[in-house]
Amino acid sequence: MSFNPFSLEGKTILVTGASSGIGQAAAIAASRLGATIILTGRNKEQLAATCALLANSGHRQFAADLLKADARDALVDFCPELDGVVMSAGAAAMRPMRMADADHLRAMLAVNYEAPVLLTQRLLARRKLKTGASLVYVTATAAHLSPLATGAYAGAKAALVSTVRTIASEHAKKGLRANCVAPGYVDTPMYAALDGVTSFAGNHELFPLGISAPEDIAHGIAYLLADASRWVTRSTLNIDGGHSLHLRQ
Ligand SMILES: NC(=O)c1ccc[n+]([C@@H]2O[C@H](COP(=O)([O-])OP(=O)(O)OC[C@H]3O[C@@H](n4cnc5c(N)ncnc54)[C@H](OP(=O)(O)O)[C@@H]3O)[C@@H](O)[C@H]2O)c1
Repeated sequence: MSFNPFSLEGKTILVTGASSGIGQAAAIAASRLGATIILTGRNKEQLAATCALLANSGHRQFAADLLKADARDALVDFCPELDGVVMSAGAAAMRPMRMADADHLRAMLAVNYEAPVLLTQRLLARRKLKTGASLVYVTATAAHLSPLATGAYAGAKAALVSTVRTIASEHAKKGLRANCVAPGYVDTPMYAALDGVTSFAGNHELFPLGISAPEDIAHGIAYLLADASRWVTRSTLNIDGGHSLHLRQ
């Protein structure tokens, strides 16, 4: 049998945000590499649609609103011991700081920071992560590039990056790895919903390598899930089509 360090054969991987965009693409890519996927999101029909696109069989879906503690607990109960987790669920809303009231800050923090961090806490506390498990968090280049009107969103993602580094440090001795993938602008329903505020049409010249598709991010996630990256932890992989070449880091 040929050796493939990028294979995910025999691994069971939980993917949040699997009903759409980057999470859906990550679930599909991981299944093609041999993983069994636990898919989660709120929309049952969309989860079933993703499930139908996965390679191989044995995948399972569990609908959960990750803003709710009881739903997070139920999801963790549902999960078998995991070899990997992809935290892709998130939401973006753009607002200039003079309009960023407490509700806006709380909404951005709740879904982009609290949900993945508290889900991780439950997975750790319930011992659902195998020795050598890989946790991959979808953050955003916005966390360090801080574009206009993204103060709350970028702040939540920056906080997530920082907490992921702590998770990696605290659990390295158990062989657990925790990394971030930071996409630039990606053509997904989230980005389409921001149309009118920002658009690919106006941003085309900012991407020397072209506009990113969800699969471009999914392949980076798959690398971080695989044994190929077994020496990689506490890092952030930027995948942004060269967008950040134009901007000060
Ligand atoms: N697209 C971009 O340009 C871009 C750039 C940088 C970073 N990102 C990040 O990439 C990740 C995925 O975004 P995307 O572009 O793929 O967006 P998307 O297509 O809108 O997908 C967002 C996903 O998050 C899930 N979700 C949202 N709120 C949830 C909740 N309360 N509970 C459970 N699931 C929830 C949605 O599932 P349901 O609707 O089924 O609940 C959906 O599957 C996000 O973390 C986002 O911040 C995206």
